[in-house]
Amino acid sequence: FYSLHSFQEDELRDKTVVIIDVLRASSTIVTAFMNGAKAIIPVGDMGEASKIAQNVDSDNYLLCGEKDGEKIEGYDLGNSPLEYLKEIVEGKNLIFNTTNGTKAIKKSLGSSKTYIASFLNVSAIVDELKKQENEIVLVCAGWKGRLAFEDMLLAGNIIHLLCNGSLPNGSRDGAKVAFGLYDKFGDDISTVIHQSNHATRLKDIIGTSDIDYCCQVDITDMLPRLKEGMITLTDG
Ligand code: MLT
Repeated sequence: FYSLHSFQEDELRDKTVVIIDVLRASSTIVTAFMNGAKAIIPVGDMGEASKIAQNVDSDNYLLCGEKDGEKIEGYDLGNSPLEYLKEIVEGKNLIFNTTNGTKAIKKSLGSSKTYIASFLNVSAIVDELKKQENEIVLVCAGWKGRLAFEDMLLAGNIIHLLCNGSLPNGSRDGAKVAFGLYDKFGDDISTVIHQSNHATRLKDIIGTSDIDYCCQVDITDMLPRLKEGMITLTDG
């Protein structure tokens, strides 16, 4: 169980990886697929995003993402899941560039499988993880190398569901902390997520509607998965 900067990419090799960025990259990715997006290309920075954008047919691609929570000038969409409407994203490929989420996704390129998890699709993720034989690593994107409460809380929710509410002996410290966090706050995730550092940061930029949206649990069974550098809906 790792946070963004405390692991080497090699450690994810041959593992099943779950990327968690509740506010907001994971929730936005899941929403884009709910509304018919074809594929999402995660990129590490603005340079990489514009290089790809220059070499594709702009009718089929949208340039999307944020820097420090704000929409990037010249981009088609920011990182609010509420922007990713069916009439905008259906059938489109999205070039997606975010401060922490897409960087965490890119770090997992050498994994056996990488899934994108949010509260919106948590049960679908857990059902899929129950089928895995590889070691499972939950990667919390956090914020610029720091822990993000909401990401740890979702990690705890996933662990709770995976082990039916009883943490196995020998669990690692990170798993114990996430499990304990969900034990304490899992009954009312919305209240505690609204009090998190990133929610406070986002409230100043865009208000609270994205946070309300991202706190919804199990509104979809979408299973976005990274494959050959591209996120698409999983075929298992
Ligand atoms: C990120 O990748 O850091 C984010 O999802 C930040 C945000 O836009 O809320």
